[in-house]
Amino acid sequence: MVDTYVEPLAVAAHDIDRYAVVGNPIAHSKSPFIHTAFAKQTQQNISYERVLAPLDGFEATIRSLMQQGFKGVNVTVPFKFEAYALCDHHTEQAKLAGAVNTIKFTEHGIWGDNTDGDGLIADITHNLNTPIKGKRVLLLGAGGAAEGVFQPLLAQHPAKLVVANRTLDKAEKMVSKSFDAAIKSVACTFEDLKNQQFDIVINATSAGLSDMALPIPSSVFAENCLAYDMMYGRETPFMVQARASGAQVADGLGMLIEQAAEAFSGWRGVRPETKSVMEMVGAL
Ligand code: ATR
Repeated sequence: MVDTYVEPLAVAAHDIDRYAVVGNPIAHSKSPFIHTAFAKQTQQNISYERVLAPLDGFEATIRSLMQQGFKGVNVTVPFKFEAYALCDHHTEQAKLAGAVNTIKFTEHGIWGDNTDGDGLIADITHNLNTPIKGKRVLLLGAGGAAEGVFQPLLAQHPAKLVVANRTLDKAEKMVSKSFDAAIKSVACTFEDLKNQQFDIVINATSAGLSDMALPIPSSVFAENCLAYDMMYGRETPFMVQARASGAQVADGLGMLIEQAAEAFSGWRGVRPETKSVMEMVGAL
């Protein structure tokens, strides 16, 4: 089940702390490459593996890894909600998202964190140099990926945050959990986006996975708009539409690296530098 990606750094086996990313599918995950680069850079003796969990066997997989002495795991699609449910303790970020993407095994139980929101914010504000404060922000989607970034986006104090989703009540439910009443956050359907313009448009739907376009008007992209697709590794129809509308376009590779840096820092107590790793994976 455990598919080791790289030779761990050259130290005795008992000195190596083992980590993994767990998901289904998992074969294309870039996390082993990213974490191995962080480990080399910060001289941490860790190994990092890919683990494919059966769709009905996430908890058993996690407990098995814990018994094998793993120190922590990253969790990816489709297990982030299940991961939340099995953790004994949660960080504030995990509680706000209701989902966990980073697990740490400790003698006091299983800790769950969520670094997706911080990863997105770091990529947009730092790497892409686009402040969110005071901006009109549109979040497309209201599933797990959107849930993980909704509250962190609000915490940046945008002028407004509109959540548009194919299924309206999911967007309404998400917006109703808004902790900051001062910021206007609104739920709507894609049709309601006519006559609205945004400075930052974030695609958190999974439509791009099946090459599906979203029924959004091209007028949503204001002048100098940043269009961000949280997916990486492909040019989605959303990105094509945004580019054709004159927006600056980014995919989610930078977010992936930034959320990994947060997870690594939570596990190892040292924050890796991300720019060189972004260059290595072609995100810059
Ligand atoms: P994830 O963990 O990737 O967010 P999810 O929780 O299943 O996965 O959520 C998928 C999101 O993409 C939802 O917002 C979904 O819309 P619905 O809530 O209406 O299902 C959205 N989505 C997926 N395929 C879509 C499509 N073809 N058009 C529009 N929205 C789509």
